Amino acid sequence: MTARLIDGKAIAASIRERLKNSVAEFQNSTNVTPKLAAILVGEDPASQVYVRNKEQACAKAGIASEVHRLSGTITQSELLDLVARLNSDKTVHGILVQLPLPKQINETTVLDSVTPLKDVDCFHPENVGRLAQGRPRFLPCTPHGVQVLLRESNVNVDGTHVVVLGRSEIVGKPVGLMLVQKGETANATVTICHSRTRNLTEMTRSADILIAAIGKPEFVTREMVKPGAVVIDVGINRVEDKLLGDVAFDEVSSVASAITPVPGGVGPMTIAMLLENTLMAAKLQGTVNKIT
Ligand code: GUN
Repeated sequence: MTARLIDGKAIAASIRERLKNSVAEFQNSTNVTPKLAAILVGEDPASQVYVRNKEQACAKAGIASEVHRLSGTITQSELLDLVARLNSDKTVHGILVQLPLPKQINETTVLDSVTPLKDVDCFHPENVGRLAQGRPRFLPCTPHGVQVLLRESNVNVDGTHVVVLGRSEIVGKPVGLMLVQKGETANATVTICHSRTRNLTEMTRSADILIAAIGKPEFVTREMVKPGAVVIDVGINRVEDKLLGDVAFDEVSSVASAITPVPGGVGPMTIAMLLENTLMAAKLQGTVNKIT
């Protein structure tokens, strides 16, 4: 079998085109331009690229953005002051704190300080709690990107066994939560595997849909995949100037029925979902401001 390629780049491009129109409509009817504020601390090269890509994507969609580039030696209280300022700035609708943060800063404290109505990453416990209960405000960008990829490529999720490799707060846990819920492109039986899972190959081979999000280059090999399974690769690993996913693409393509490439799979979807969340945040704040 040669797997069908799930083209995240093309799917994300069409979503962004549609979103551009929605942003223009919102702007025409409210005179408000949605705005994303991103905070980048330190000099991490990958984070610099991600933030620049987010900035450019905002501009193309008609969303305003501002990037706060801060020294890697900033104190936690300085960073919390900045978040507080952005929380109360009525022209800012979405706030994104790019991770990772330097060691002297407690990531949880900073992420918890972002007001839930501007939490476009869906990292705040209130928003994660809502997600867990099946009444989400924002959907987390990468997990939502995975779900939309499955939907747009007509993969049936209902009743299938989804195995997630990785239990991170950003991808593994929330994607599992989303796909197990009642609803469209959901209703799956979900198993979340991690570094302590026993009989890992047995687990992954029982997956109808395998989602790899462990950050280990080419970890998933041919024998770990059931023939005909759909494989979603969330990994982005830089190895000797090459980008590799968590899946050994060539060998797994010969056994899977559909697969996402790296780059050009999940990555572009994450940004498209961030833009959608920023527009939604602007709409939400418009509603709240009218009520109060
Ligand atoms: N670092 C790596 N991925 C992400 C993400 O989705 N959001 C943020 N804020 N930081 C990240």
